[in-house]
This record gives sequence, structure tokens and C-alpha cells, in this order.
Amino acid sequence: MLTIRTIDELRRAVAGWRAAGEAVAFVPTMGNLHSGHLALVARAREEAPRVVVSVFVNPTQFGPNEDFARYPRTEAEDAEKLEAAGADVLFLPSVEEMYPGGAEATTFVEVPGISDILCGEFRPGHFRGVATVVARLFNIVQPDVAVFGEKDYQQLLVIRRMVRDLAFPVRVIGAPTVREDDGLAKSSRNQYLAPEERELATRIHATLQAAAEGLRAGRDIAALEREGAESLERAGFRPDYFAIRRAEDLDEPAPGDRELVVLVAARLGGTRLIDNLRVTL
Ligand code: PAJ
Repeated sequence: MLTIRTIDELRRAVAGWRAAGEAVAFVPTMGNLHSGHLALVARAREEAPRVVVSVFVNPTQFGPNEDFARYPRTEAEDAEKLEAAGADVLFLPSVEEMYPGGAEATTFVEVPGISDILCGEFRPGHFRGVATVVARLFNIVQPDVAVFGEKDYQQLLVIRRMVRDLAFPVRVIGAPTVREDDGLAKSSRNQYLAPEERELATRIHATLQAAAEGLRAGRDIAALEREGAESLERAGFRPDYFAIRRAEDLDEPAPGDRELVVLVAARLGGTRLIDNLRVTL
């Protein structure tokens, strides 16, 4: 595996593969890799003979009071894991390489509507930062396929819409959420949790499952949303939202909609956790 830090060098590597007729799959990450990320790499390997993984903690998607500075940076461990997972290139650009005009002054990509609801309401500018960095990474890597996790379900839909609207020649694949044995979705932010918070955190998945069961039993959506938020609050969380939406576009479900998703974002101490569960009725 090659570790590459500049756009020029990355482009040369990819151009060599292209000249040999080899397709490229891409997995963007912010590093601190866990088995959820590595499942995306495994999926990428199934999709194309060449796999590029980026590790870049993207400043434009963090709010002023968020965890950009303390976000875990584990470059050496990440490189080892990616080598073992069979990635061809680890792309590790600096902030200057990604934002030559400065992160504040860059051209932005804004995906309207879907960026402003749910997580977007509580993290203004977050999805603008995500869309911007992913667009730039797509232009640098020029992948045939890109793999994203369903763990960040709203992000996946934002990326799909950006690809559609800007006609990126990239096929976007969503891969299932990888969980701990007790149901907690794997996340780099789980390590912020104190031991007693880590135990409580299993409630998130349990609450999603309870809502999914309620939906399958034909119960009222608004009541299930309320109960989900209340049960997390009682357990000591501060939920940002507990919402049941259409899986396709995150709109409010209409009668007869069969493909739904239950989504939650909740704070536990200083840590914000998100998760979701798809439900087909
Ligand atoms: P990051 O949080 O590092 O996640 C990178 C990718 O891994 C995303 O597609 C995310 O959905 C996926 N992922 C994270 N945890 C997962 C899990 N438990 N199971 C399956 N997939 C999981 O998401 C980002 O970085 C950034 O916003 C990024 C897209 C890289 C843009 O900066």
C-alpha cells in the first residue's frame, strides 16, 4: 500500500491504473478506523481492482463548538489496518492540500433541503462541509465507485443527491452498519464515552428496535417518535431528535409508505451519538 499526501502524486497513481484499464473504488473517512470502516474497504475491494481510502479530518464539517481539535488522529494504526485490509492507496492530505484558499474561503457545495433537517438542524453547515469535501475528493480521486456507510444515513442521501445534481460519474454504494455485540453502532466517538455511558449507549439501538416493532404492529408514528425520545431522556440522554421518515428522501411518511427509517441523534454527557434502523412494512 502506498501512502500519498499530495493531489499530484495521487493523480499519477490513479492515471497509471486507468491506463491499464483498472477501475477504482473509493472510501472516504476521517480515520481512527474501526471494523465499520474496514467493512467499507472490503466492499470496495469487491467492486473494483483498485481501492483508495482517504483519511482527512475535515474542518469544514465541524461546528465551532464541536470536536474537531480533539477528534482522534491515529495515522500509524490506520495505515496498518488499511494495509491489512488490502487498500492500494491511503490518501492523507493536509488541510492546506484540501483547502488551498483556506477552509473558510473555499467554494462550497450546498445540497438544499435534505441538508437542513434532522442532523442538519442541530449542526448548521455540517452537510455543506461534507458535500464540499466529498466533491473535492471525488474530483481528485475520480473513482468509478464510492462506498459510504448507512450508519450516517442522512449523509449517504446527501451524497447521492449531490452526485445526481452535479452529474458526478460515480456509483454510490451504501453499506450496512457494523455494530458491537450489544448493538451499539461502531463509531470513532464511542471512545469518548465513560464506562457507565458506554453501558447506557446500548439503549440507542434498543430504542430504535422498539420503534421498528411498533411500526410493524401498525402503531401511530407520532406516538412512537415521542416514546422513543422520552425513553432516551429517562435513561439520561439528551435527544436532538427521534424521527421516523421515508427511507428514500427523509420526508415525513405518507399513508401507505412502506420503506421507512427510524433515526436518532442523542447526547450522552459530552458525546453526540447517531444511529438509524431501516424498516420495511
Ligand atoms: P467517518 O465518520 O470516518 O466515516 C467514514 C465512513 O465510514 C462513512 O461512510 C461512514 O458512514 C462509515 N461508517 C462509520 N461507522 C460505520 C459503521 N459502524 N458501520 C458502517 N459504516 C460506518 O463520514 C465521515 O467520516 C465523513 O463525513 C466523510 C464522508 C469522510 C467526509 O469527511
